Amino acid sequence: MKVDVLLGLQWGDEGKGKIVDVFTPKYDIIARFQGGPNAGHTLEFEGIKHVLHTIPSGIFRENVINLVGNGVVIDPIIFKGELEKLAPFNIDFKKRLFISKKAHLILPTHKLLDAASETLKGKNKIGSTLKGIGPTYMDKTGRNGLRVGDLYSPNFKEKYQNLMDKHIGILSHYDDFEYDLTSLEKEWMDSLEVIKSLDAVDSEHFLNTAILSGKKILAEGAQGTMLDIDFGTYPFVTSSNTVTAGTCTGLGIAPNKIGEVIGIFKAYCTRVGSGPFPTELLDEVGEQIRQEGREFGSTTGRPRRCGWIDLVQLKYAIMVNGVTELSMMKADILSIFDSIKICTHYEIDGHKVTEFPYDVNDVVLVPIYIEMAGWKEDLTKLRRYEDAPQELKNYVLYLEKELNVPITLVSVGPDREQTLLK
Ligand code: GDP
Ligand code: IMO
Ligand code: MG
Repeated sequence: MKVDVLLGLQWGDEGKGKIVDVFTPKYDIIARFQGGPNAGHTLEFEGIKHVLHTIPSGIFRENVINLVGNGVVIDPIIFKGELEKLAPFNIDFKKRLFISKKAHLILPTHKLLDAASETLKGKNKIGSTLKGIGPTYMDKTGRNGLRVGDLYSPNFKEKYQNLMDKHIGILSHYDDFEYDLTSLEKEWMDSLEVIKSLDAVDSEHFLNTAILSGKKILAEGAQGTMLDIDFGTYPFVTSSNTVTAGTCTGLGIAPNKIGEVIGIFKAYCTRVGSGPFPTELLDEVGEQIRQEGREFGSTTGRPRRCGWIDLVQLKYAIMVNGVTELSMMKADILSIFDSIKICTHYEIDGHKVTEFPYDVNDVVLVPIYIEMAGWKEDLTKLRRYEDAPQELKNYVLYLEKELNVPITLVSVGPDREQTLLK
C-alpha cells in the first residue's frame, strides 16, 4: 500500500484536523510528519470540540494507530496536557499512540529563545506562536538537539544540561530579557514521565513494515504550504517542510511510496501572524469573514487575517505538493455574501503575474479578481453534494477547472457530519 498525505495548501488552519478525523476510518495508521505544538487541529463530533496540538487527529477512532513522526518537535508539557484532556474518552494510549525515537524535544529554554528572538525583531517579528519551534529545529539542524530516544540514555541529564547551558549563554546576549526557569524546568522534567509511559519506536521501520503488510497509512501535515521553510513566504514561515516532501523526511517514507495527496483549502483564505497575504481584506468584508468564520487561532486565540481565495497561491501550492485531490472547507461561511471574489492573477508594475513571486514581501502587488454570484443559503444542514445550491456548484466547477484537480469534498460546518463527499 502507498501512504496518502493530507496537508494544508494555504497559511494553515484550513481544517486539516476535521478532515483527518473524517477520513480516519479508511486507514490503519495516522502519522504526523512535521511541526509541533504551534499547530492547533480542531475536530468536532457529538457536540464536543477538541483541539489537538501534537497528537494526530485520528486518535478518536477505535482500532487506528496514531504516530508522532521523527519530523515532529514535541513539548512534553503540552503533550502531557493533551493526554490529560483526552482522559475522559478512555483511549488506550499505550496501544494506539506511538512516538518516534527520533522526534526532537522542545526544551523550556527553546521557548525562551523564541520569545527573545521575536522581541528583538520588533515590528519585523514573524508572529511566532512562541512554542519554541524555530529554536528547536535550529538545534536539530545544528546537530545539538535532544531526541525522544535520548530520554532512555544514561547520559540524558548531562545532554540536557549541556544544551540548556548553551541556551542560557545565548539568552545572556539579549538585553533586558528576564526569565524564571526554575518552575518551567520542574514541570518539564515531570512531564517527561508521560512521554516515557508510551512506546518510543523506530518509526521508519514501524511504518515501512506496516506498508509491506498492506496497512493503510495517512500522513497528517501541520501548518500550510505557504508557511513551508523553503516554499513559503520566507522569512514569515515556520521552521519545517510542510509540503509533501516533508512526509518522506518526517516519517522515513520513500517518495515512490507516496499515494494520493489530499490538499485542503478554505473557500476563502486566512493567515495568522506576520507576512505577506496578497488577497488580505483590511475592510468590513474581511471583518465579516472573521466574525462569521470565527477566525481566531486554535493555538493562540489571535484574530486571523482574512481575504478572498487566491488562485495564484493555490496553483503554486498544488504544484509543489503534487496534489491529486482537493477538499474545500468552510463553504458555509461564504453564505453571507451576495457575490464572492476569486483572485485569478496579480498585477505588479502594470504586468500580469500568474506565478507566485519570489519578492512577494517587497513588491506592490495588486490582486485581480473575477466575481461570482453567491448562494445566500444556509449550507450547514446539507448532507449530500447533489442538494447543494447551483451557485456553490458553479464556484466548485470554476475552481476545479482553474486548478485542474478534482474537489472531492466540500465542508459545510465544523462537525464530522457536515461533510459533503462528491
Ligand atoms: P487546522 O489547523 O487545519 O486543523 O484547522 P483549525 O482547527 O486551526 O481551524 C479550522 C477551524 O474551522 C476550526 O475551528 C474548525 O472547527 C472549523 N471548521 C472546519 N471546517 C469547517 C467548515 O466547513 N465550516 C465551518 N464553519 N467551520 C469549519
Ligand atoms: P496548523 O497546523 C496557522 C504561523 C505563526 C507564525 C508562523 C511561525 O494549526 O495549521 P512558529 O510558531 O512556527 O514559529 O510560527 O507560522 N503558524 C501557523 N499558522 N496554523 C498553524 O498550524 C501554524 N503554525 C504556525 O502564526 O506566523
Ligand atoms: Mg490550526
